[in-house]
This record gives sequence, structure tokens and C-alpha cells, in this order.
Amino acid sequence: MSRTVVVLPGDGIGRVVIPEAVRVLEAAGFTAHTVEAEIGWSCWRRDGEPLPGRTIALLEQHRLGLLGAVTSKSRAEAEAGLPEPLRGTGHTYRSPILALRQRFGLDVCVRPCASFPGNPVNFVRRLASGAIEEPALDLTVFRQNTEDVYAGVEWIDPPPAVRAALALHPRFSPFLSTPGADLAVAARIVTRDASRRIVEAAFRYAAARGKTSVVLAEKPSVLRETSGLVEEAAREVAERHPGIELRSMNVDAVVFELVRRPERLGVIVATNLFGDILSDAVAGLTGGLGFAASANLGPKIALFEPTHGSAPSHDGIDPPIANPAGAMLAAALLAEHAGEPLPAERIRAAIARVVAEGRVRTYDMLRLPATREAIAQGAASTREMADAILARL
Ligand code: NAI
Ligand code: MG
Repeated sequence: MSRTVVVLPGDGIGRVVIPEAVRVLEAAGFTAHTVEAEIGWSCWRRDGEPLPGRTIALLEQHRLGLLGAVTSKSRAEAEAGLPEPLRGTGHTYRSPILALRQRFGLDVCVRPCASFPGNPVNFVRRLASGAIEEPALDLTVFRQNTEDVYAGVEWIDPPPAVRAALALHPRFSPFLSTPGADLAVAARIVTRDASRRIVEAAFRYAAARGKTSVVLAEKPSVLRETSGLVEEAAREVAERHPGIELRSMNVDAVVFELVRRPERLGVIVATNLFGDILSDAVAGLTGGLGFAASANLGPKIALFEPTHGSAPSHDGIDPPIANPAGAMLAAALLAEHAGEPLPAERIRAAIARVVAEGRVRTYDMLRLPATREAIAQGAASTREMADAILARL
């Protein structure tokens, strides 16, 4: 077996949950070598570079990555975090995640969120009779990962050429006299190619799972040109998948449906910002950040990660209490992507059993605050949760 997974624990709880995900991946029968690579705040603090060249080279070589989380801070905090000799030398902090997405063209982000029956933090609804209903949810958000306002083309006090260009647009007239220092502008950039790719990925996923529709969550009635282009590209793609209906919905209507009747939704595709917001909402309905995982797919490499960040609020809590399920579900996505659905299924089934049995629960499942008292209050540590899941494998 010559496959190698580049393991990037990163910062904070990334270092806690990723080793558990690697353990579970092996136990589930996924055979691969692993090589560890550095990324994040700790690299910045040492070398002034959160994304080392060796890490890029390893990802280029092995094409499969499992990432924990990285800490990002404000410009001022980042400058203060630099080692003394590097301060004031023009090193600027840029999120290594965004850098990876751009560098490797990881333009397709997939966030599958299925609720595990018996999870006490699942979405529930009170009926008119007073009875509580807990619909099973299986929602997947396809988020375009590289464009939209997240492309980062924005200005405060736009340069004269930009202002002149904006003035060409009749709708800019209310802002013509706004002083530069009081005016910030972001460009919403979408391309036909990237729109096609994200929608195609969503349709293929739906087809593989026997789903009959894909919801496009945009706002073409207001964002006529940008959402309009995405919708046009989506219609083209839909024509190639006759068995699957394209439902174009306004993103606000999708949010309303998510809050009221999320079981009516399945595969959702959206541009970057809308997709970001929708996927957090979907994660919140299906167990929270402790259970959310994402895949970032590009033409060359694929990177899998729990959706959560480094959770600095957990610093110093020993033993660690972060829920390792999100990282394990990311590992399951990795296995599936590598052509091994069986280990992925095993991992999900093991998590499902532990959740359903209800004996071992991390603090987030008990709605406890993230403090060192959580364990005394009945929460399992990361290790205990991971051991329970491994035992079910
Ligand atoms: P976060 O996701 O790190 O934490 C938010 C809250 O969710 C925390 O209070 C934590 O208790 C809870 N939480 C997160 N993961 C959990 C888990 N596995 N089990 C149980 N509870 C969990 O988001 P936050 O605090 O906004 O950001 C912290 C740092 O992480 C920042 O520097 C941010 O830039 C970075 N970040 C990195 C991401 C990435 O690496 N992809 C994504 C999001 C944030
Ligand atoms: Mg987010």
C-alpha cells in the first residue's frame, strides 16, 4: 500500500482530535502511511510563516491531507506574536487555510451533515399537541470555496481608478460623494467555470446517493448579474442530469426552511459566503461543531478537516474535552474520497452506536460549558470518547 496521508494537526484542539482521527482510520481498516506536517500559528510564532514550504511540498506529493485547525488572529496580534527579530520586517499573517485553498485550487467544499439518532443536541420541534418531533436530517452543503466576496478583492478608500470604474455604474450614484475613508467596497467575483464545477459536484453527489433534487441557494432577484450567472451555469449542469431536479431558491428562503422544516432539504449548493453561513446552520441542526466535517477538493489535492477551529477556550483544559467525532468524520470523508467506502461506513456506524447508547458523551453533547469542571459534571474526555468509538469498531 503506497498511499500516504499528510497529517496536519495545526493548533489548539486540532492537536487533540487529529491523533484520534488517525487512530480510528487505522482501526477501521484504512491502510495508509502517514506523514506529519506543520501549519498554523505555532509556525508563525517561530518562523513568521504559517504555511511552511515543506508542508506545501508534502501535500503536492501525496495529494491527501487531514487537517485539524489553525488559529488566526488580527493583524496587530499576529505582529505581536512574531519572534522579536522578525517584527516590523514586513511579514504579514495570512490564513494558511485560505492560502491552501487558493494555491491548490480547492474550489469545491463539501459539508455533509447527518444527524445521529439519540444525540441530545439534535434539532427538535414542538408540535401543536405539545409532542416533540425529532426529524432525521441528512443535509449536505456544497460551498464554492475560492470566489465570491471571499476572493478578498476589497478596498477601504478605493483607489481613484476603482472609484472611476464604480462611477460608470448607474447604481453607484448614491455613493459618489461619500468620502474615501468612509467607503469600503468588496467585489463579488464569480466565474462560469467554478460555478459549473461546484454545481456538477453537487449533482454527482446527489446522483450517487439516489437523491432527486439539488437546491441552489442564491439571490438572483437582487444580485442579478452574479447570482444570475451562477443560476445559468447551474441550469446547464442540470440538463446533463435529467433524473435530478434543480430547485433554485432564494438563500433567505432556504434559511427559513432550514429553521422550520430542515428534513425537506437535502443537497444544497451555494457560492462561498452563502455556503459558509448555510453550512454552519446545517451543522448546528445536526449535532453542532463537535460533529461537523468538511472536504476541500481541488484538481490535484483533497484536504479533509473538522469544521471547527482551534478553540482557544480549551487551552489548558487537561485532560482535553473536545469532541473528536468531527475529526473522525473528516477521516471518513477522506477514506471515501480515496475509494474506500467501507472504512468510512465503519467509522460512521461506530460513532452512531456510541451516540445512540448514550453512556459516553462529550461536554458539548451535554450542553455544558467548556471548562475543566466538565468531566466532574459527567462529560467524557476526548480520549474516553475516542476509546468508546474505537471499541465499537
Ligand atoms: P472554534 O470552532 O474554534 O470554537 C467555537 C466554540 O465551539 C468553542 O467555544 C468550542 O468550545 C466549541 N467547539 C469547537 N470545536 C469543538 C469540538 N470538537 N468539540 C466540542 N466543542 C467544540 O471557533 P472560534 O472560537 O471562533 O475560533 C478559534 C480560532 O480558530 C480562531 O483563531 C479562528 O480563526 C480559528 N478557526 C479556524 C478554522 C479552521 O482551521 N478551519 C475554522 C474556524 C475558526
Ligand atoms: Mg465557517
